[in-house]
Amino acid sequence: MRRSFLINAAAAAALAIIPAAAIAAGGGALEYKHQHWHFKGPFGTYDREAMQRGFQVYKTVCASCHGVEQLAFRNLGDKGGPFYLEECPAGVPETTNCKVPAENPVVKAIAAEYTVKDGPDDLGDMFDRPAAPSDKLPRPFANEQQARAANGGAYPPNLALIMKARHHGPDYVYSLLTGYQEAPETVTLGPGQHYNPYFAGDMSQLLKPEYRDAEGHPLPDVKVPPGGVLAMVAPLSDGVIDYADPAIPETVDQYARDVVEFLTWASEPKMEERKSLGVVTIGYLLILTIVLFFSYRAIWAKIDH
Ligand code: HEC
Repeated sequence: MRRSFLINAAAAAALAIIPAAAIAAGGGALEYKHQHWHFKGPFGTYDREAMQRGFQVYKTVCASCHGVEQLAFRNLGDKGGPFYLEECPAGVPETTNCKVPAENPVVKAIAAEYTVKDGPDDLGDMFDRPAAPSDKLPRPFANEQQARAANGGAYPPNLALIMKARHHGPDYVYSLLTGYQEAPETVTLGPGQHYNPYFAGDMSQLLKPEYRDAEGHPLPDVKVPPGGVLAMVAPLSDGVIDYADPAIPETVDQYARDVVEFLTWASEPKMEERKSLGVVTIGYLLILTIVLFFSYRAIWAKIDH
């Protein structure tokens, strides 16, 4: 009985080790570059200017392939959003309440740059019109099939979800965007494959034949490069987006940082509210504890005498 238990335990342990060894043989992805994000920690908040620039990066570059689904233009002007206005800028009529996203002139101007399909009209036809704040940000493709057809069979995921779907989403996306490299000498990439050491994959499959044994395994002294290949070509390069503020560098690093700020907000727009509610709750509990402590002392003081 005891023996079979031991054997089973040994077998289970061996099974647990095998996948780890298999991953090690594949090289594994590099550890992400850990960044100091403004929005991390119990008091973290979003950096509004970074989010605004990040929206510009998303709109100029990423939006041609990726959607941020469920996001409507008016959300950009919600309290805590990148274009929220506490007060109206000069020149806006006094009757406007700029705190309301649908009246926010910046949000209205952003929406008006887009065209959306509407209808049917009285004749049953669909028609194009400029977007309104209540419209969702348009998706780049009508459906998944069209998206795959345009991207060599790969699907560009919803970027609001990817932040949550991947471990350490912000560090991961930042590392991925800034981490593209020339493919190492030892591998051959297929058509439409781009090497990135931060993307999960198994580069041993792509080693050139001279680095593999008869069974296709890497030769003992060959180092399998970290990371993997993905269908997305490096989307950013220095100088591709013009920032209005000359003090902000126009570099891949800065673009990546800013777009991560925007996408993290898009994935969790209520984070600031949640955190400030947490702080209020803890303050309340602290005061309650103090009151209870003193009332306890007061009550027992009477009983003792
Ligand atoms: C030309 C189209 C295109 C553009 C532009 C583009 N992407 Fe992608 N992206 C893709 C495709 C296709 C994939 C899926 C790749 C795969 O699975 O091999 C992808 C995947 C991703 C992933 C997911 C990686 C994973 O772990 O699955 C992230 C994150 C990403 N893109 C971010 C961005 C950001 C941010 C931008 C803008 C700076 C951007 N992309 C611009 C096509 C694009």
